[in-house]
Amino acid sequence: MLHRRLLTTICRMTEEAKRLAGCAAVDNHVKNNQVLGIGSGSTIVHAVNRLAERVKNENLHVFCVPTSFQARQLILQNGLTLTDLERHPELDVAIDGADEVDSELNLIKGGGGCLAQEKIVAGCAKSFIVIADYRKDSKNFGDQWKKGIPIEVFPMAYVPVTKTIQQRFGGVAELRMAVSKAGPVVTDNGNFLLDWKFGKVHDWAAVNTAIKMIPGVVDTGLFINMAERVYFGMEDGTVSIR
Ligand code: 5RP
Repeated sequence: MLHRRLLTTICRMTEEAKRLAGCAAVDNHVKNNQVLGIGSGSTIVHAVNRLAERVKNENLHVFCVPTSFQARQLILQNGLTLTDLERHPELDVAIDGADEVDSELNLIKGGGGCLAQEKIVAGCAKSFIVIADYRKDSKNFGDQWKKGIPIEVFPMAYVPVTKTIQQRFGGVAELRMAVSKAGPVVTDNGNFLLDWKFGKVHDWAAVNTAIKMIPGVVDTGLFINMAERVYFGMEDGTVSIR
């Protein structure tokens, strides 16, 4: 009973931290007539809610590029204007969550499996702004979470890619399975995901490039040198900006 109450309190605190980060990022970075990238996950939901509120209250006109099916639904459900990279290949700001943020603002993303489209959209934005709760703050990757680095692969290549990663970089790369265990998770792009438990600290920029060169790899969840600013919602109700 006590355990359940504690868990509920922690969940509420975490959700509030996500909301604070999302609101602060939207308030500080979104302006009228901008083209925005909308990330995926649970934290971005708060940012989109705040965006919809501002669009309505301040009569803003913004165009939103989604990074996933979920983001597309969020944009539509909130009555925001949907666009794409064909119509708007240059974005003003992209806002997205992260699974880990290191001390140099490098990120691990892809917990929700949307890393490839998230990286494309972030790469098209003048500013890439990250929102996260306090649990995502790692000095070094793996400090806080041991979920590993997601890697999107073409289905036919998942076994050779798994072997190559393990042989060259160590650790263990696991095919991400659906919760039901009935089959692998399939991304919005029709691909599979490997979660690479990397074991030791690497030169992440070099590893990212090397993994991307393996035939069959679509992209990795390593976002190196891409984030301009990170908003962390904290346990005490404040927002820490890095
Ligand atoms: C999805 C992502 C998400 O942005 C990341 O997993 C963070 O999610 P959440 O906001 O739910 O913690 O990269 O591919």
